[in-house]
Amino acid sequence: MYAVANYKMNGDKEFFLSQVQELNKIDTKDTKIVLCPPFIYLPFFKVNERISLGAQDVANAMKGRSTGQVSATMLKEFDAEYVIIGHSERRSNGETNTQIVDKVKCALELGLIPIICVGELNKNSGNDEIFEQVDAVLKNIDHSSKIIFAYEPVWAIGSGDIPTTEEVKNVIDNIKSRAKEMNFDIEVLYGGSVDEKNFTTFSKAGADGFLLGGITLKTERFIELIKGMDNE
Ligand code: PGA
Repeated sequence: MYAVANYKMNGDKEFFLSQVQELNKIDTKDTKIVLCPPFIYLPFFKVNERISLGAQDVANAMKGRSTGQVSATMLKEFDAEYVIIGHSERRSNGETNTQIVDKVKCALELGLIPIICVGELNKNSGNDEIFEQVDAVLKNIDHSSKIIFAYEPVWAIGSGDIPTTEEVKNVIDNIKSRAKEMNFDIEVLYGGSVDEKNFTTFSKAGADGFLLGGITLKTERFIELIKGMDNE
């Protein structure tokens, strides 16, 4: 099970140094912890071998005229192994499926594992949007690529309003069967208001782990969640 921390644009050096110190003390069996801080903090994350690093985005080109962007090569240089791509907070700023596919390709070229976010905007908007986002990626990369999807209903992010186990299971099963039809072997995380109390709702739905936002800013509760996942 993955516990992927998306700190978003939160935290500061002092917070991260002290959280990493606490996380380094946890002895996990089956939980893979992946920490994705804002780019600039990556060099301060001195983690043990049980913890991996990731970024929250990557450029859709390897180098060149892209003011403000960070390339896959640069992320590799600072020990990132994973990268979140297509988070709804970026899609809502105009990021398109085409740009997302290019980012996924850049990440894969450097051996980074993309965690691709997909999800419907509104509670009642149905699943078409999700599968369009999934297909855009699957149709444009090699089936042997190691990728992870994160199903994040946009309305559930940071809201405390969560879908049912059945709803999440239905989406995860659908993403997995679409991927299987195209010979991909993928994992699917769930994200959106996951905490130390409700996570079993989503593990029961077949999620291979969680993309975590708000809870990562509360170190004690974040650790409680990781330990809970590990004891499941
Ligand atoms: P949340 O964020 O856990 O605060 O809902 C999740 C995410 O945006 O990845």
